[in-house]
Amino acid sequence: MLVLRGISKIFHPGTTQEVRALDNINIEISPGEFVVVIGTNGSGKSSLLNIVAGAYGPDSGSITIDDHHVEDTLEHERAGLIGRVFQDPFKGTAAHLTVEENLALASKRGETRGLKIALNDALRREFRERVRELGLDLEERLQYRMGNLSGGQRQALTLLMATWKAPKVLLLDEHAAALDPRSAEVVMDLTRRLVTKHGITTIMVTHSMQHAVRFGDRLLMMHRGKIVKDYSGADKQRLRTAELVGRFDQMRKQELMDESVAELLRTQYV
Ligand SMILES: Nc1ncnc2c1ncn2[C@@H]1O[C@H](COP(=O)(O)OP(=O)(O)OP(=O)(O)O)[C@@H](O)[C@H]1O
Ligand SMILES: [Mg+2]
Repeated sequence: MLVLRGISKIFHPGTTQEVRALDNINIEISPGEFVVVIGTNGSGKSSLLNIVAGAYGPDSGSITIDDHHVEDTLEHERAGLIGRVFQDPFKGTAAHLTVEENLALASKRGETRGLKIALNDALRREFRERVRELGLDLEERLQYRMGNLSGGQRQALTLLMATWKAPKVLLLDEHAAALDPRSAEVVMDLTRRLVTKHGITTIMVTHSMQHAVRFGDRLLMMHRGKIVKDYSGADKQRLRTAELVGRFDQMRKQELMDESVAELLRTQYV
């Protein structure tokens, strides 16, 4: 269970660059719920994930993961509760280490001692088994350097690593966006399988309306730091791409209109 109450975040407060990235976010996400987040550029999607992960603290509000109040804890202190995958396939893994060395690091996440990589036969067997489940033949490449794999292969392994210890919360920030369509499909299919297998509470940001419709049991639409739509249950299942694109365009038009009015006000009255 992930609960956010009254979460706000303002960047550069009191300056001309002031941005209200998150504006009084209130949300309860049930255990195992798979939530998809969409919204225009700059609407606060990544800020929402960053606040949950602890990359920075909120200006106000509380965050609880199960019974843990985490809003005042540092990112590394809540790392054991959270798995994360970013858009950039190079971000989640160590390029100069081999696949099995990366997996060894993942298997030690959240532990404060003994970060030394100690590979043994039992561990290697477990790696082979779990990598085989990806269905990408990567179990034959455990000794390859991560940096020599394709973006799709790396993202698949990053997902496996992020969910290795079944975290309480999985945060995915456009994690399939930098991949070719076929690799994106593979990674999305894998995402669904891993989330279901471990029953992980998941928040996935995407710009793909098709993915937003096809995946997840709940869909949030963000706009200017607020959650403006929240579809769940049958409403989410009923959603079709065309309808979502329509609503999205409506919002974007409104935003452009607001911007041109603001621009007009600036140029006419300043
Ligand atoms: N570290 C930061 N410092 C200053 N401003 C920031 C910072 N992070 C985000 N912002 C601003 O906060 C707003 C929300 O940004 P955020 O990255 O959350 O948007 P987003 O919905 O993820 O957009 P995109 O779809 O482009 O990834 C934007 O106006 C952005 O410029
Ligand atoms: Mg973003």
